[in-house]
Amino acid sequence: MLDLFSDEAPWQEPLAEGAVILRRRARDDAPALLAAIETVAAQHPFTHRITPGGYRMSVAMTNCGDVGWFSDARGYRYSEQDVSNGQRWPAMPPLFRQLAQQCAQEAGFSHFTPDACLINRYTPGAKMSLHQDKDERDLRQPIVSVSLGLPAIFQFGGFARGDATRRVLLEHGDIVVWGGPSRLRYHGILPLKPGVHPAAGAVRYNLTFRRAN
Ligand code: SIN
Ligand code: FE2
Repeated sequence: MLDLFSDEAPWQEPLAEGAVILRRRARDDAPALLAAIETVAAQHPFTHRITPGGYRMSVAMTNCGDVGWFSDARGYRYSEQDVSNGQRWPAMPPLFRQLAQQCAQEAGFSHFTPDACLINRYTPGAKMSLHQDKDERDLRQPIVSVSLGLPAIFQFGGFARGDATRRVLLEHGDIVVWGGPSRLRYHGILPLKPGVHPAAGAVRYNLTFRRAN
């Protein structure tokens, strides 16, 4: 399952209209991506945000880019600063931007210009409940989501929270792109199973690229 030593070429798996999984697409870039995550986190450590409803999120987050996504008692939003210390987010590493743009293009979305990269860190038991990504201004731009480290089950649903979901395993190096008619589909991550990944350790990382402003 952990095909660190496989030289199998990446392949595409359609999910829905406007949504596709680029399997193993980030595998070769993974060491550099993981190193860049460490660099960002050294400047802006991962923290567990509080939802507007007062719950502590099980996923720890940080950001890079012009704006970063976060949540607190006032709601979900993007900000140019990390509210915890007032500092701007670290710049998006060129590798991040290039990978996100190329993958968007491969999925049929040219001209993707991400200005935000949310970095999620999942430890065993951490999950992301079904939600829509809808805090962005221009919904014509897709979401590019990169999975690294431990595998997780991604739920990909419809346009109402109660709609049936597809469940797909996302592994190290997999990238999901969704936009167009799928842009507002509900999605989430089931509780992470414990394990140790040879490249990332006992965690899963997810990079979510978006055009926020
Ligand atoms: C998210 O929807 O923000 C995260 C999805 C994931 O972790 O794969
Ligand atoms: Fe999301």
